[in-house]
Amino acid sequence: MTLDYSNLDMDAVVENDQTHVWHHITQHKNFESAKPPVMVSGKGMRISDANGKEYLDAVSGGVWTVNVGYGRERIADAVRDQLVKMCYFANSAGNVPGAMFAAKLIEKMPGMSRVYFSNSGSEANEKAYKMVRQLAAIENNGVKHKIIYRERDYHGTTIGALSSTGQSQRKDQYGPFAPGFVEMPHCLEYRSQYGDVDNYGELAARELEKVILREGPETVGAVVLEPITAGGGVITPPEGYWETIQQICKQYNVLLHIDEVVCGLGRTGKWFGYQHYGIKPDFVTMAKGVASGYAAISCTVTTEEIFDRFKANPDDPMSYFRDISTFGGCASGPAAALENIRIIEEENLVENSAVMGEYLLEKLQNLQQKHPMIGQVRGKGLFVGLELVTDRATKEPVHESVAVQIAADCQKDGVLIGRTNRSFDEFNNTLCLSPALICTRDDLDEVVDALDRALMNAAG
Ligand SMILES: Cc1ncc(COP(=O)(O)O)c(C=O)c1O
Repeated sequence: MTLDYSNLDMDAVVENDQTHVWHHITQHKNFESAKPPVMVSGKGMRISDANGKEYLDAVSGGVWTVNVGYGRERIADAVRDQLVKMCYFANSAGNVPGAMFAAKLIEKMPGMSRVYFSNSGSEANEKAYKMVRQLAAIENNGVKHKIIYRERDYHGTTIGALSSTGQSQRKDQYGPFAPGFVEMPHCLEYRSQYGDVDNYGELAARELEKVILREGPETVGAVVLEPITAGGGVITPPEGYWETIQQICKQYNVLLHIDEVVCGLGRTGKWFGYQHYGIKPDFVTMAKGVASGYAAISCTVTTEEIFDRFKANPDDPMSYFRDISTFGGCASGPAAALENIRIIEEENLVENSAVMGEYLLEKLQNLQQKHPMIGQVRGKGLFVGLELVTDRATKEPVHESVAVQIAADCQKDGVLIGRTNRSFDEFNNTLCLSPALICTRDDLDEVVDALDRALMNAAG
């Protein structure tokens, strides 16, 4: 049965939203005189708002989530059928789609073995942090508990995840933060901290070693990194970076936690972002694309070796992972995720992400020739950023109002693009494109044409 909105008073809906809903990451003063945006329906790459205006969505639901596109009836059917069969039981017991999805997911992740379910990217990261801290508690009186994170990376909204986030504007005013999280420098070569060098990747990775040695290797349990930094400006790692990070982790017995909340499930043209770099992680966390937004589900995935360490002393009632998330037992999550991963497989969407990503990157590099404001184009697969500058020689970032205006112009033109939003004091200057993995060349042409017009406008 299709939901019928034909008799719905859409003005009343919007008014209810304006009166009662507090939108995410939004200054509401504007909505005292203007109507808030309300999205109503979506199909494939396109979404429509309460005014009936249709947009080509080049950010997969605003925050790189709806990877298989809107209106997938087979995911909705799978969720409905599962809810009728068995909607929920606490995940201290298993359920059918959970077991099947876990096995399917692990097929895509050689070396990994165990899946822990929860509801959001932040929560998936918190679980890994708790595992690291508990291992320290079990094995060495809690000494090896610190977690290193990187400037510019984002790991979530909860206080623990925010404590491990390297974005000043996301953190300001929300402290004090949890102890035990330590920052290391970013790896954006375009904004090199060492001048013009030919081994930037190695130098940036050696910053991890410096922090480990400063803190004391015996105190450092893990490092958490995005494979490609997302909201921090779509930062693809420089050459040699990951090899050195992996070697340092091994040398100092530091666990490697890769946050794939954005990059996971095909976004970058491989199943997972880390698989571009030959990395062997100890933890991989994922959320957004796991069920493409059709249900709230996240996963903390680890190795059998880590899992075994929580079984080592069954006589100690405190030695196993004593964590629960009520909604980690919702069977709708893995039911949606199982159908989502089948769609990605059957429609070869990982390959499409790689092929269309190359096409998009090339088109944007051509656009860069035309617009001096584009300082750098970065990306992998259908995950691309354009860093905007006032002057290519000095790399002075444009004021964020310029990026806001460009995104608004594209929206007026019927194309939704993203941008770094309330992340940094001076670097909210990167536009982001992350269309659904189903996109075609025609879709991408339409996106780049809108961007071209908006950039022309911005240049005056
Ligand atoms: C890399 C990364 N990790 C974690 C999160 C947090 O995910 P969630 O908003 O589902 O808690 C995000 C959200 O944007 C993210 O980009």
